[in-house]
Amino acid sequence: MAAVLLGLLLFALQSPPVPSRPLAGGGTPPPPTSLPPDNGTTSHPNGTLQQLPQIIIIGVRKGGTRALIEMLSLHSAVAAAQNEVHFFDWESHFQKGLPWYLSQMPYSFPEQLTVEKTPAYFTSSKVPKRIHRMNPDIKLLLILRDPTERVLSDYTQVFYNRLQKHKHYQPIETLLVKDGEINLGYKALNRSLYYRHMQNWLQFFPLESIHVVDGDELIRDPLPEMKKVERFLKLEPQINTSNFYFNKTKGFYCLRDHGRERCLHDSKGRAHPHVAPAVLHKLHLFFHEPNKKFFELVGRTFNWK
Ligand SMILES: *[C@@H]1O[C@H](CO)[C@@H](O)[C@H](O)[C@H]1NC(C)=O
Ligand SMILES: *[C@@H]1O[C@H](CO)[C@@H](O)[C@H](O)[C@H]1NC(C)=O
Ligand SMILES: *[C@@H]1O[C@H](CO)[C@@H](O)[C@H](O)[C@H]1NC(C)=O
Ligand SMILES: *[C@@H]1O[C@H](CO)[C@@H](O)[C@H](O)[C@H]1NC(C)=O
Ligand SMILES: *[C@@H]1O[C@H](CO)[C@@H](O)[C@H](O)[C@H]1NC(C)=O
Repeated sequence: MAAVLLGLLLFALQSPPVPSRPLAGGGTPPPPTSLPPDNGTTSHPNGTLQQLPQIIIIGVRKGGTRALIEMLSLHSAVAAAQNEVHFFDWESHFQKGLPWYLSQMPYSFPEQLTVEKTPAYFTSSKVPKRIHRMNPDIKLLLILRDPTERVLSDYTQVFYNRLQKHKHYQPIETLLVKDGEINLGYKALNRSLYYRHMQNWLQFFPLESIHVVDGDELIRDPLPEMKKVERFLKLEPQINTSNFYFNKTKGFYCLRDHGRERCLHDSKGRAHPHVAPAVLHKLHLFFHEPNKKFFELVGRTFNWK
């Protein structure tokens, strides 16, 4: 009940405002490019409107999706949704239909591209079909890191969440290994089996519609990766060296947007737990085959251990 009320409240807060006066100057408003007005949107008097995304960052969890969407927002032709929308993976959201999804999108100018990111999409098997039904020509961005690093990062996030709630959490070794074998039942491990999830996507989308961003490279040296993203999205080249500066204290790049400087949230650089070297070695060995399968699927290799 409380959830329903909260949902309604959020919906009310995020509903597009009804224009209170007709457009000044007698000009006709730009036609919405995605949906006719009776699908739940109206263009705003200031010339902006909400559009269904033409780009979705589908994952992966702990792959660097926040960094990617922030860096993509540096481009003036991109409008990014603030929150993770979870439309295609959460039934309670999906049932509300596309008008609700649209209502979650930022106001943008008609010539801008809208992007949302929900890292859980990549590993949810029902999502590719649903996105395809909305727009088979949509452009998908997938940012991946070394699968072992990703598992540790996934564990670390859950670990700190539990810590904050004063709850107990198992040491990583007992989750990763069961009866001397790598434990496939551990969800964080499953999420790093990239080829399995990729297979689901390739049943609905051609490889040319999915651009894989190297998350390790994006953190180490963001500009070259962002230039590739610009090319994939057919955006006018705009992101340049002055958009990034290295923060020595943090040990990674921060962003500069029209003189405004910002670094990603501190938790993004959180230290991983210490993992017994034998377990780490087992993990690296374990991922060898799945990684090879992934490289074959996408016709490209990554510098993963
Ligand atoms: C938008 O509304 C029109 C008519 O009201 C309908 O035919 C169309 O399928 C709707 N599109 C979406 C994406 O919901
Ligand atoms: C246009 O109006 C929308 C809705 O009120 C608002 O969110 C947006 O910031 C405005 N954009 C500009 C450029 O004024
Ligand atoms: C791993 O994830 C896939 C896709 O979500 C699922 O089909 C499979 O059952 C999972 N495997 C295990 C061992 O949990
Ligand atoms: C980088 O982009 C900014 C904003 O678009 C522009 O003002 C600046 O001149 C560019 N700098 C270089 C070195 O190209
Ligand atoms: C660099 O990082 C440190 C440590 O997080 C932070 O306190 C500082 O404000 C950052 N400096 C700049 C210029 O971003």
